[in-house]
Amino acid sequence: MVELVPSILSADFARLAEEIAAAERGGGSAIHVDVMDGHFVPNITLGPPVVASLRKHTKLPLDCHLMIENPDEFIPAFADAGANWVSVHYEACRHLHRTLELIAQHGMEPAVVINPATMVELLIPVLGMVHHVLVMSVNPGFGGQKFILYSLNKIRRLKELRQELRLSYRIEVDGGVAHDTVAAVVEAGAELLVAGNAVFGEGHAERDARGLLEAAQRAAMLTV
Ligand code: DX5
Ligand code: ZN
Repeated sequence: MVELVPSILSADFARLAEEIAAAERGGGSAIHVDVMDGHFVPNITLGPPVVASLRKHTKLPLDCHLMIENPDEFIPAFADAGANWVSVHYEACRHLHRTLELIAQHGMEPAVVINPATMVELLIPVLGMVHHVLVMSVNPGFGGQKFILYSLNKIRRLKELRQELRLSYRIEVDGGVAHDTVAAVVEAGAELLVAGNAVFGEGHAERDARGLLEAAQRAAMLTV
């Protein structure tokens, strides 16, 4: 089933509770939280205190995308803050297997993310451990960037691998998901659709979440 995961990166940070409530009314089924440290990516956003505040305002899963160096150091703090899904970058983890185990030991769902230039096959050893795989379809750091078409091949490959290896991870896509790209990502096999600018960019999160989710659902109905 295809699900919309609104990314608060493009929301009004001074009105986050209202923004996520609107995205939820529009059909968002988890809230994507982009954590950036100014080292792994060239931008800084937010950390566990903001996750703890969000936790008080929604029951939806909080999908925390860690774009940070040394994620192991912060996993306990995200667990305490109430994060549900935690994704770490293949490129940021020296001991990825250990980091994924650490996330699970803290009672959260582990996930792995790959940048546009990283091959899906590198993840094969850990695919059995993850709740989902996140395919970055832009270089991480900023909202509102152009979708990188090659990502569609990576989504298709992850779908094939899931069948070949008899696994059950879900496939998430993040970056440039909007009206002009949503059908292609759904056809390729993405199930968790992260969207920032397309949901929050115009200040009408409920309306725009609903419109994007409906477009995704139409594409899913046409896909076998
Ligand atoms: C980018 C972030 C994304 C971002 C996507 O580094 O990981 O989650 O919010 O934004 P859009 O949907 O605007 O491309
Ligand atoms: Zn993200």
